[in-house]
Amino acid sequence: MSEIKNEVEKTNEEVKDLASTVKDETAAAEVTTEDKAAEEEEVKAAEQTAEKTDTEKKSGPDLEPFNCRIIVVTSGKGGVGKTTSSAAIATGLALKGHKTAVIDFDVGLRNLDLVMGCERRVVYDLINVVHKEARLNQALIKDRHVDNLYILPASQTKDKDALTLEGVGEVLRGLDNAGFEYVVCDSPAGIEAGALMALYYADEAVVTTNPEVSSVRDSDRIIGILNSKSRRAVLDWEPVTSRLLLTRYVPGRVTKNEMLSVEDVQELLTIPLLGVIPESPDVLKASNAGNSIILNKESDAGKAYEDAVERLLGNEVELRFTTEKKGFFSKLFKR
Ligand SMILES: Nc1ncnc2c1ncn2[C@@H]1O[C@H](COP(=O)(O)OP(=O)(O)O)[C@@H](O)[C@H]1O
Ligand SMILES: [Mg+2]
Repeated sequence: MSEIKNEVEKTNEEVKDLASTVKDETAAAEVTTEDKAAEEEEVKAAEQTAEKTDTEKKSGPDLEPFNCRIIVVTSGKGGVGKTTSSAAIATGLALKGHKTAVIDFDVGLRNLDLVMGCERRVVYDLINVVHKEARLNQALIKDRHVDNLYILPASQTKDKDALTLEGVGEVLRGLDNAGFEYVVCDSPAGIEAGALMALYYADEAVVTTNPEVSSVRDSDRIIGILNSKSRRAVLDWEPVTSRLLLTRYVPGRVTKNEMLSVEDVQELLTIPLLGVIPESPDVLKASNAGNSIILNKESDAGKAYEDAVERLLGNEVELRFTTEKKGFFSKLFKR
């Protein structure tokens, strides 16, 4: 009997031991949970800090609206007259008293400075500003013809990846803070990264098109990109206002069915018309002299650009230079 009692007592003792071990272990476990919670808290905080620094480091595109109006002069195709038009529109806006900057986004192929006659004064360029190698005011070149006009040249580097949406946003923000009213962005050809950099922040697009099928087709693609990839599209703001600028127009060739008419192009592109710029030998002369064509008050092309600028500013101006100029003999015989 006593044997049994002893056994029971022993078992009790063992159970007690076991219980206290379990208790100790539970306590230990509780400490671990507490530590773990603290540790987790620490990790979380660290992660948050890292995330914050990360967003500070590469905060991405600028998502706040600008006060200035950003106008991109774009097209799918090269050689249609974007640079000529950027120079003319920027000069025209400045002539109207608006503080205007024109940026050459054509990295590696800069020629806006040539067209505007300031190539010898280029020291710093857009990429230098984006990479913080120069301040904006060091890179901006004051136009020698017109007050209120500044040029930000492109770099001749071949590195097309040197531009980032964030960097471009910073440059535009800098211009906005400096009180510019209009920023005209001269786009490179194509629909790749460079063209996207130029159009991303646009409020308005001047879709530069020649009256030929391939140019119209490429313009159609760029309109698609403006409607899907611009900041306004991405953030679901009011869409970019796209308008058609038909350049190098030759009415005589339209009559002969060698060129698409204004109506043909408008029908194909279905965006409102900003202007029609006639083909003119004055354009090449002006660019060789480094004077924007809009400064030539005698030239039809210059006058047509003046009209386009008026329309950009919201004024209604009748279309000119879209019909064939009658030569001396045809005028004589028509009577
Ligand atoms: N209205 C025009 N009449 C005659 N030549 C023009 C006209 N517009 C542009 N050009 C010429 O066409 C060529 C390409 O123009 P440019 O403005 O450099 O085009 P992009 O910037 O689209 O490549 C240049 O030689 C320019 O002088
Ligand atoms: Mg160009």
